[in-house]
Amino acid sequence: MFITFEGGDGTGKTTQINLLKDFFESRGKEVLISREPGGTPVAEKIRDILLDKNNVMDDVTEAYLYASARAEHVRKVVKPALEQGKVVLCDRFLDSSVAYQGYGRRLTADKVMEINAKAVDNVLPDRTYLLMLDAEAAEKRVTERGEKDRMESNGDDFKERVNRGFLEEAKKHPERIAVIDAGRSIEDVAAEIRRDAEKLLK
Ligand code: TYD
Repeated sequence: MFITFEGGDGTGKTTQINLLKDFFESRGKEVLISREPGGTPVAEKIRDILLDKNNVMDDVTEAYLYASARAEHVRKVVKPALEQGKVVLCDRFLDSSVAYQGYGRRLTADKVMEINAKAVDNVLPDRTYLLMLDAEAAEKRVTERGEKDRMESNGDDFKERVNRGFLEEAKKHPERIAVIDAGRSIEDVAAEIRRDAEKLLK
């Protein structure tokens, strides 16, 4: 089972992933947590390039770098773990590219899907939890974490387009993407995700 967490920066994905891991383990599942961009030594290096504020790059270059990191991560980490019967929980995946590069950078969803077609190697999430938070609350959480990286430094318009992109994706794939209101307490959000995950186990 491949489950991804999506949403803007500062929506609490990491916390929720760890809580869901505990849940699956309590049900006797082996769980692997990973993240994109990253998850392998080379993909982590690509991540450093992408998030380094000193780097200026073309939007198409950016999209290919995210796809390259994904190609590496899917083949080296996600596929093998799924083949071993593990539950894979991933902090961001393809929907982030559609939202950030497709809508944020305006490359369009189609172009981003085309760039990623080979990268994903037919591995697509069984379930996606899309954590949505209003812009102000998200900004507050990102600022509290300290210095912003290259992607977090984008303006409000960009973030708005990203959020719209995620919601468009959710509309396109209602059977896969569950939209979760992340403005509630950690425990309330976790309980909603757990209830859904419980159904997936059946
Ligand atoms: P992440 O580490 O999840 O950031 P955070 O913990 O702040 O949510 O992701 C790094 C950044 O990369 C984040 O700003 C979103 C962006 N991103 C894309 O633009 N495209 C992608 O395909 C992915 C996976 C992430």
